Amino acid sequence: MMDKASRLKVALQKSGRLTDNSLDLLVRCGLKYSRGKDQLLCYGENMPLDLLLVRDDDIPDLVQQDVCDLGIVGLNVIEEKRLAFQARGIAPLFEQLQVLDFGKCRLSIAVPDGAKYDGPASLRGKRIATTYPNILARYLRENDVTAEIVTLSGAVEIAPRLGRADFICDLVSTGSTLLANHLREAEMIMESRAAIISTPVAVSAEKQAWIQRLRMRIDGVQQVKESKYIMLHAPRAKLADIRKLLPGSEAPTIVPLDGAGDKVAVHAVCRENVFWETLESLKGVGASSILVLPVEKMLA
Ligand code: PRP
Ligand code: ZN
Repeated sequence: MMDKASRLKVALQKSGRLTDNSLDLLVRCGLKYSRGKDQLLCYGENMPLDLLLVRDDDIPDLVQQDVCDLGIVGLNVIEEKRLAFQARGIAPLFEQLQVLDFGKCRLSIAVPDGAKYDGPASLRGKRIATTYPNILARYLRENDVTAEIVTLSGAVEIAPRLGRADFICDLVSTGSTLLANHLREAEMIMESRAAIISTPVAVSAEKQAWIQRLRMRIDGVQQVKESKYIMLHAPRAKLADIRKLLPGSEAPTIVPLDGAGDKVAVHAVCRENVFWETLESLKGVGASSILVLPVEKMLA
């Protein structure tokens, strides 16, 4: 195992929408970790990799400052930081490596129940509370709207009730925060998901090799989530029809069946979920003994 300085440091959200999924992703990539007493540092036991659990908004800065090599954070935070750095004339020193398949949400304008909203023009001259001032400013600019941006560091949803703002611009995932605060989503500004960022600062060859390995494993984990292994028997003459029905499969394996005349076995990896309707259609064109199995791991 590598010495301390050459261990990869990965920043994750401490407690929030992305925490469980981020940890789960790394565990699926084979990581075994133990959590420190302070709960802020996890030590990778079988990989030269440690996890730093921090506020999501701090993750791009930690990567920018080269404290962490990688970070898992929402596209919303990445974009806000990128614009913030740009506004200050600083080049962002992090790059987006990979978009992940969790943490879906949207950054939206929300208005108090009963308030009128007829498109961006309704924002003119209003006070809008947000923790995303740069993304909001760009949106207002693009829509030719002048409004006052009230930048808060949290609890944006209570700003209208406190009289600090007319509207808010915040993340909406399930919508329960808005509902609980008598707000309604009026306009979506940006869609977001979790993504991995990395430092472009030259890391050692050893670290780079681990980043590559991790990326390949993450690709594999993301692919198997939807993938299925399908096996069936079919008359050889029906193979063309069957291949058309197999969702997202490349070259299936065709094996002759001993003593079954013209019948063959078809084995294929489908990169999309296989629904009952597909099985029924396969049966309809002559397939039988159809089995669908989950895929545990995949390496392209
Ligand atoms: C966002 C946002 C809302 C909540 C919305 O917080 O600020 O509080 O999630 O989710 P809901 O629609 O499911 O209720 P985030 O997870 O980014 O945490 P943070 O603001 O504390 O960083
Ligand atoms: Zn946050």
